[in-house]
Amino acid sequence: MRFIAVSVILCAGFFWPTFSHPRGEWTKLTLTQHWPQTFCSVVEKTCTTNISFWTLHGLWPNSGMMCNTSWHFNASLIKDLIPEMKKYWPDLIEPSSSEFWKYEWTKHGTCAARAESLNSQHKYFSKALELYHKYNLTNVLKDNRIVPSEQYYTLDDVETAITSFYNVKTKIQCVHPGKGGQVQVLGQIEICVDRDFQLIDCEKSTEEIWSNDIPAVAISGQSELSVCDHSMPIYYPPVPSRS
Ligand SMILES: *[C@@H]1O[C@H](CO)[C@@H](O)[C@H](O)[C@H]1NC(C)=O
Ligand SMILES: *[C@@H]1O[C@H](CO)[C@@H](O)[C@H](O)[C@H]1NC(C)=O
Ligand SMILES: *[C@@H]1O[C@H](CO)[C@@H](O)[C@H](O)[C@H]1NC(C)=O
Ligand SMILES: *[C@@H]1O[C@H](CO)[C@@H](O)[C@H](O)[C@H]1NC(C)=O
Repeated sequence: MRFIAVSVILCAGFFWPTFSHPRGEWTKLTLTQHWPQTFCSVVEKTCTTNISFWTLHGLWPNSGMMCNTSWHFNASLIKDLIPEMKKYWPDLIEPSSSEFWKYEWTKHGTCAARAESLNSQHKYFSKALELYHKYNLTNVLKDNRIVPSEQYYTLDDVETAITSFYNVKTKIQCVHPGKGGQVQVLGQIEICVDRDFQLIDCEKSTEEIWSNDIPAVAISGQSELSVCDHSMPIYYPPVPSRS
């Protein structure tokens, strides 16, 4: 009896999304930001470390990848956004290249574009920037006294800071282990929104599959990124002072 009840609930849960949205449409977007210092610590390439704020990694729908490979990235369609993109969505390894944006568009943007609200390159990139400004992560952390420093934090500190502002579950990722195995290094934070761009809980689910998504140029080392745990202090590495 219990088995039947559980099955019915599972089936209802499984099929329900196909009733509310056409097949293949996404229901959630993950706005991913990374901390340049940590990103650069694992890539073993020349990397832009002198940035003292979280930068954008991507805006990823929870359904589909490479939805239309013939829809080519075209920087001239987002010309007005480029200065902001360069600042807040930089390619930390190749600062003058647009490969990172091209990669994100082809892999995720073309799927996000199934929704009318994001059905152009301009809409997609400008929405990502808009959400990035709106949910100003650097500032949220700072307001809760989580700042880059040589002092360590607990995962509770970081979670409390983030949850107190966003009021939803986010995903906090670290590089394990760092600094001689004694700490984990804060690296990437994911914030989730629904189709109306309102905050919702990020959940562990199929989207784990591409949460470690990274352009091929940066692939080395990034596999070390995983959800931060309670077993070790968290290091939020400071930006080297200018010489
Ligand atoms: C970082 O350093 C590069 C090259 O040294 C410089 O061009 C750039 O303006 C610096 N960026 C910031 C945010 O200080
Ligand atoms: C893929 O993108 C191209 C170029 O924008 C467009 O002409 C085509 O209709 C799109 N295909 C689908 C299936 O959306
Ligand atoms: C990029 O977009 C511009 C503006 O719409 C257009 O003139 C140009 O032909 C496009 N370039 C490519 C390679 O599709
Ligand atoms: C975040 O907020 C700080 C402080 O208000 C501001 O200086 C910074 O420009 C904001 N960043 C973004 C991406 O909007």
